[in-house]
Amino acid sequence: MKKTINTLLPYLFLLFALTTNLKCVSALDLGDTEGNWLYNGVNYYILPSTFRGEDAGSGLTFARIGASDSLAVVQPATNGWNGSAVTISNPGGTKIIITGSPVDFKFADQSSKWVVVFDESAKVWYLSANGAKPGQKTKTGTFQISQLNLGFKFSFCNPSFCEDVGSFVDADKHNRLALGGSPFSFKFQNAHNN
Ligand SMILES: *[C@@H]1O[C@H](CO)[C@@H](O)[C@H](O)[C@H]1NC(C)=O
Repeated sequence: MKKTINTLLPYLFLLFALTTNLKCVSALDLGDTEGNWLYNGVNYYILPSTFRGEDAGSGLTFARIGASDSLAVVQPATNGWNGSAVTISNPGGTKIIITGSPVDFKFADQSSKWVVVFDESAKVWYLSANGAKPGQKTKTGTFQISQLNLGFKFSFCNPSFCEDVGSFVDADKHNRLALGGSPFSFKFQNAHNN
């Protein structure tokens, strides 16, 4: 049964993408690359999801930015690397992570959850992997995951609206995740406790 689901899941996603208004897809629509649901507290590599596949760069990781000890969430251009494992958790406590509900992200080897902070020189809200530094503005809200074509996008939401997570290349050529722009499309690969 599990094998059948694994085999069928990519086709089901394709079918959803082609035939339905994405808002109509059931809540249990988040899957990893092995065809399993996304589970609370499990570590995943978050990889680009694109038709270009292997050419799309590596999985998400973090990089020290500027002169501060701020660590930004980045997506390097190097191909064929998984990036750093990310613990995805569900503050609501249910076992399966569903779209449109709050989720927390943190790199498995970092203690802070991701937060959204303001870069005064670039004028963008970017995702920080180690919290806000003194004097940095933090945006209030929660992350959510939803479907985007054949992958998933992240949004950052407050009670009145959501902004998509896209990316921007900073002065040091780090491709940082940040609010605004075209949403970045991801897939989740179980890191199997890495
Ligand atoms: C990426 O992660 C998968 C398991 O999630 C592993 O099988 C694979 O070897 C990893 N690839 C690299 C290049 O580390």
